[in-house]
Amino acid sequence: MANVIEKIKQLKKEKNAVILAHCYQSVEIDEVADYVGDSLSLSQVAAKTDADIIVFAGVFFMAQTAKLLSPDKKVLLPQIEAGCRMADMLSLRQLKEFMSKHPSLPTVCYVNSTAEIKAECDICCTSANAEKIVKSLGVSKVLFVPDTYLGKWVERQLGNVEVITYPGFCPTHLMIRPQDVVNARKKYPDALVLAHPECHMSVSSIADYVGSTTGIMKYVAKSKNKEFIIATEQGVVDRLKRDYPNKKIIPIKNNIICPNMKMTTLEDILHVLDTEENEIFVNKDIAQKAVRCLDRMLEVSK
Ligand code: 13P
Ligand code: SF4
Repeated sequence: MANVIEKIKQLKKEKNAVILAHCYQSVEIDEVADYVGDSLSLSQVAAKTDADIIVFAGVFFMAQTAKLLSPDKKVLLPQIEAGCRMADMLSLRQLKEFMSKHPSLPTVCYVNSTAEIKAECDICCTSANAEKIVKSLGVSKVLFVPDTYLGKWVERQLGNVEVITYPGFCPTHLMIRPQDVVNARKKYPDALVLAHPECHMSVSSIADYVGSTTGIMKYVAKSKNKEFIIATEQGVVDRLKRDYPNKKIIPIKNNIICPNMKMTTLEDILHVLDTEENEIFVNKDIAQKAVRCLDRMLEVSK
């Protein structure tokens, strides 16, 4: 393995490449990553990097977003099969049907969506900035796609905006049930429950903190509490255990794993860096429209 890591580092230098990794990736990917973070921070880095090649250790929509924000860069996805089951729930036809039922409302799309979807929406958001983005529109009613739970979480937080959501969801986060929170609290009464907003509302509404993957990691870093129950993907649990050996990090339950996020291996990264296979391309017309949706989000998130 040390050999693979060394080869990746060498190729990165030779080719002026940068490796971006989402915090749901297997933890060993961090050995070679230049940045590890949530969807928002990774898209901000992708938009600014002066590397020639971006290797995106994540899933398809993330690499596609990086390509939209850095069209002149070569963007490589180590595992071309790594998709997002939530993003796959919304096709262009389904989006148009949904929009036609609620004409003339602005549409916010979660970054977990394809470029075709982004091209038809007004503004993009991530789990880290969804509330701020919806608020920035200054309207009393919006459409939100594809994550119904993130949309409904935002509606609850804002209190004065009706958020009409498309019925998409993340199958990994929906494995977490409110009873899991109740059981975990009984077993660890001093622990705080930290949840991702892709969880079902019945889970988010009884958590102590709800935030993006990076939001959860920062919360643990800053909190004086010593015990945390983590209601999101295992990658966050593994990184927190590594980074805070003196705190007790408890997964809400075993096997909260996104199979797509866990496809990528160090060998895959070495392979794409070496061969430059799995390059991501986006149709020019779609890209032109989709990037507006992302730029608007980045502007609001500054
Ligand atoms: P973050 O935006 O918190 O990184 O989560 C995105 C996500 O769903 C990855 O699956
Ligand atoms: Fe998509 Fe859920 Fe996996 Fe995130 S955890 S990439 S939302 S399937």
